[in-house]
Amino acid sequence: MDFKKAVTRHVRQGVETTHILFQIPNEEDWHKKVIDGKRTPYEIAKHLALLFEADLMIAKGATAEEMRRFYDQDVPIADLSDRMSASAVLFEEALRNGFETRQTYWGVHDTDAGWCIEMVGHFYHHRAQFFDQLVLLGHVIDFQLFE
Ligand code: NI
Repeated sequence: MDFKKAVTRHVRQGVETTHILFQIPNEEDWHKKVIDGKRTPYEIAKHLALLFEADLMIAKGATAEEMRRFYDQDVPIADLSDRMSASAVLFEEALRNGFETRQTYWGVHDTDAGWCIEMVGHFYHHRAQFFDQLVLLGHVIDFQLFE
């Protein structure tokens, strides 16, 4: 089983379909509170755009303060897709070269295989959240999310 090849394929599928999902919201959709107490579509999209980069930082032991500052950065809506592509490139590099892992700021240590699975699961989890919010906003989504 070529595990790295399979992971790359599924991450690319996740990222490609998320690029399409990012095209769907109307201007006024992005900052709506679709579900009370939950993130807005923009906040989820920004999280998706930064996700691999952020998780790679956490995996190699970034502090809570470093992560707070990283997540605080402004990503304009027009840049979400490019930012997500750049972040996915970093993931693929880490997959090729091995994930650098250290204890996280909350005290957990995982292997590179563990981090790899975590990042893919994490990405697909938020893609589903974003998808659901678009549906709740009344968008009809008609393309294949999985190959
Ligand atoms: Ni998350």
